[in-house]
Amino acid sequence: MNQSTLAIRGSILHFLEDPAKSARSNAEDCYEYYQDGIMLVQNGYIESLDSADELLDKLPENTQVLDYSGRLIVPGFIDTHIHYPQTEMIASYGEQLLEWLETYTFPTEKQFAEESYAAEIADIFFQQLAAAGTTTAMVFGTVHPQSVEAFFKAADAKNLRMICGKVMMDRNAPEYLTDTPESSYRDSKKLIEKWHGKGRLQYAVTPRFAPTSSAEQLTKAGELLKEFPGLYMQTHLSENRNEIAWVRQLFPDSKNYLDVYDQFGLLGKRSVFAHGTHLCDEEFSRLHETESALSFCPTSNLFLGSGLFNLKKAEAYNICVGLGTDVGGGTSFSILQTLNEAYKTQQLRGEKLTPLKSFYLATLGGARALDLEDKIGSFRIGKEADFVVLNGAATPLMSLRTKKCKNLLETLFVYSILGDDRAVEATYVMGNRIY
Ligand code: GUN
Ligand code: ZN
Repeated sequence: MNQSTLAIRGSILHFLEDPAKSARSNAEDCYEYYQDGIMLVQNGYIESLDSADELLDKLPENTQVLDYSGRLIVPGFIDTHIHYPQTEMIASYGEQLLEWLETYTFPTEKQFAEESYAAEIADIFFQQLAAAGTTTAMVFGTVHPQSVEAFFKAADAKNLRMICGKVMMDRNAPEYLTDTPESSYRDSKKLIEKWHGKGRLQYAVTPRFAPTSSAEQLTKAGELLKEFPGLYMQTHLSENRNEIAWVRQLFPDSKNYLDVYDQFGLLGKRSVFAHGTHLCDEEFSRLHETESALSFCPTSNLFLGSGLFNLKKAEAYNICVGLGTDVGGGTSFSILQTLNEAYKTQQLRGEKLTPLKSFYLATLGGARALDLEDKIGSFRIGKEADFVVLNGAATPLMSLRTKKCKNLLETLFVYSILGDDRAVEATYVMGNRIY
């Protein structure tokens, strides 16, 4: 597709490094910020970024200027863990993880045997993501391959950068929702051959979590990862105390929860483990050694009463961490709202989540967790132009509060606490407005 050059003007912020790794929490070298900046986009890719002063009289002929002066432009948000089939069961009352799965989740996911139903929900899901400013997500389907088929079809039509996989689960679930080691292997393989690497789509081998997969099925998951280099792996890890006790019973020979996955070759740079709220030092250490990533899902961890993620420890072990909404266990599609609860989670641990770290996690941190740093997560030249335009005066209260902010950090903090989909004025993928 040939696009004329786009010049996007506004306050532009992106990250180059993890602020926690800089000497001071407001270290200037981890990000670039242009109060009045211009980003040039050509054919969907970032061509340059500088102050408006520098670029304004050098714009190529036929440049289309999108003037968002007074707005904040950041890379599209990245959600490293979410279940699209659970969109309709967000805010289901009263249970913790294992009962919540039985009571609400499994009956909801049953409906995705019908591809037309899956397509309907996928459509609503993508509308929610765009409204929240999320441009990339790592997503669970259901056990039904047609759920992933519907998902990828819709994502491809919108040219979204998405990762998804068919859930593998062959035990400890209702019969209507189980596959077998062989069928899960076969169905996953078919989806991989059709969709992995097509356009901006990639496939994740997706064993739901250790309790719902037999050793035979986890072996098959490991085989797929060996057979197709570049595949992702996503699953749940150490989310809830009863779940952990159950895994200990089911896999008595494993050293710990992570070790179950390790034994089947499921760790690595493209493996993303959701939650990890109760990990021991040995597990942190092994995640580091294998370059595996964690998805921090604060709204879900609080909603399901799972626990408080230890971000400082993940940092100390140098583990890539991204944010996950974990809808429908999570309570919002909004990464800004997710930052709100991430901040409170760290408060309850006696730690501070700085506004720079928050916006890093929402963008470049997520891209690193998904091993997509070469494509998305910042505005470095050559990256894909996925970005979001935020309005700090989206509500009367936000407007009142942001006017009192004395610097960028204060403003970012207000976005992360008061912000939600109302603060998202526009969402762009590959330079095209989708919301
Ligand atoms: N563990 C296994 N399945 C699920 C799920 O669907 N959601 C969450 N939050 N945890 C899980
Ligand atoms: Zn989940």
